[in-house]
Amino acid sequence: MAASDSDAESDVETGQGDAKGDHEGAAVSLRDVRKTYYLGEPVHALDGVDVTIPRGSYTAVMGPSGSGKSTLLNLIGCLDTPTEGEVWVNEREVSAISQRERTKVRGQEVGFVFQTFNLMPKLTAAENVALPLVFQGIDKSERIDRANELLEDVGLADRGDHRPNELSGGQRQRVAIARALSASPAIILADEPTGNLDQETGKQIMGLFQRLHDEGNTILMVTHERPIAEHAQRVIHVLDGTIERVEEIESPRRVETDLP
Ligand SMILES: Nc1ncnc2c1ncn2[C@@H]1O[C@H](COP(=O)(O)OP(=O)(O)OP(=O)(O)O)[C@@H](O)[C@H]1O
Ligand SMILES: [Mg+2]
Repeated sequence: MAASDSDAESDVETGQGDAKGDHEGAAVSLRDVRKTYYLGEPVHALDGVDVTIPRGSYTAVMGPSGSGKSTLLNLIGCLDTPTEGEVWVNEREVSAISQRERTKVRGQEVGFVFQTFNLMPKLTAAENVALPLVFQGIDKSERIDRANELLEDVGLADRGDHRPNELSGGQRQRVAIARALSASPAIILADEPTGNLDQETGKQIMGLFQRLHDEGNTILMVTHERPIAEHAQRVIHVLDGTIERVEEIESPRRVETDLP
């Protein structure tokens, strides 16, 4: 079933039901996913998660600390593998491929944005943005050209030569978003992208995500802040490693943005 055929109410499907084929046409699909960490007592970080993220959708993930939000993102982002269940990204079962192939999928299909930006301190903004393009076998000068275009898109045309410590927090996060976009991924995963930013700068980042979503990108964003979550079309509420409920946001918040 193509998720895009259904209306907004049923775009994100959870729970049991006939899960076969739900990955078709979806950006991401999880089938009965469990992740257990064994540190003395087993910790069930994810305890049976079923969810489909349609292409082009904008989804927030909320839940208490330790409920499994980052674990969920890390599995989708191929940074980790589930203990049980299936993880599909862009119609590929990434839970069933080799480590080597997973690294490739991570480089090509997923753009990650972290709370702490995770930029390489010795590289310039443009070099950071160009980094994922190494996977695509594009030569260096073309990578830098593409990186500068992306920096322009996030309002940082004049900051390509700056290193991360020469940028503000909001500028660093915009570099991280440009980097996440550089390989044209199937999905942008953001783990508390505004967590280290003041409200005004957080608003800029929300403006940027809004534009990316308007342009057809798929966004999955973890946040602790309700007003931030309300920019998305729906909110997945996670509790104790399971999806407690999926909430549709009737009219997602819009921000006025002065970014180009
Ligand atoms: N590498 C690990 N080894 C062992 N346990 C882990 C590991 N990573 C996460 N956990 C445990 O799994 C559970 C879920 O962690 P996770 O990081 O997904 O939570 P979270 O919802 O992102 O929390 P927060 O809001 O604090 O970031 C927690 O109980 C955590 O202690
Ligand atoms: Mg987390």
